[in-house]
Amino acid sequence: MKNIQIAIDGPASSGKSTVAKIIANDLAIIYLDTGAMYRSATLVSVENNTKDFNEIITYLRENPISFEKSSVFIGKRDISNIIRENEVTAHVSEISAIPEIREFLVEEQQRIAGSSSIIMDGRDIGTVVLPNADLKIFLIADVEERAERRYKENIERGIASNLEELVKEIAARDEYDSTRQVSPLKAAEDSIIFDTTGKSIQEVVTFIEDKIKALM
Ligand code: DC
Repeated sequence: MKNIQIAIDGPASSGKSTVAKIIANDLAIIYLDTGAMYRSATLVSVENNTKDFNEIITYLRENPISFEKSSVFIGKRDISNIIRENEVTAHVSEISAIPEIREFLVEEQQRIAGSSSIIMDGRDIGTVVLPNADLKIFLIADVEERAERRYKENIERGIASNLEELVKEIAARDEYDSTRQVSPLKAAEDSIIFDTTGKSIQEVVTFIEDKIKALM
């Protein structure tokens, strides 16, 4: 198989990570969850009570973000669960809007991608991180359905949440992520926009895998 790079972008809880993980597994290629990287930077900000990009970046240079199976680490610390907690989610849009933080993480993401086959999900993969990706998919879904998905995920993770609050939080985060100055959430011109409202995970996976097969 020739190397293939796939960008999956879209708003919060549009199903990006779930389908990207399945496709990575089916194709035996690398999966990179870039949202987890912005969440990691936000955790550093929250725990050290700083929004100074120099302090956050210095911390992350000393304690690099890494991935192992489905876990995320800062240095040797497993932060997979804590980065999904409400406190990190509440601040992640603000921290990910800091240009220097984005520059630092985008460089890391491009370094990880190198020339390997990879599927990456985020907000700016097709527009900024992998502008030459072989396939760019932009997933959307109704905010109510996305809130229900997040609600179920939170229950599975043991995170307390309220459905109405989630609708508001997701809508607010979309608004913030879409209107920020640097690399806003937006579909690349050459991306395929796919509405996952009412679709099963398998239907979305099949749609994307059919596009991949057509490329090979
Ligand atoms: O995918 P997620 O919900 O875990 O992402 C958390 C936040 O990180 C999201 O609200 C915006 C930011 N993000 C970003 O700005 N760029 C990316 N490539 C991925 C995530």
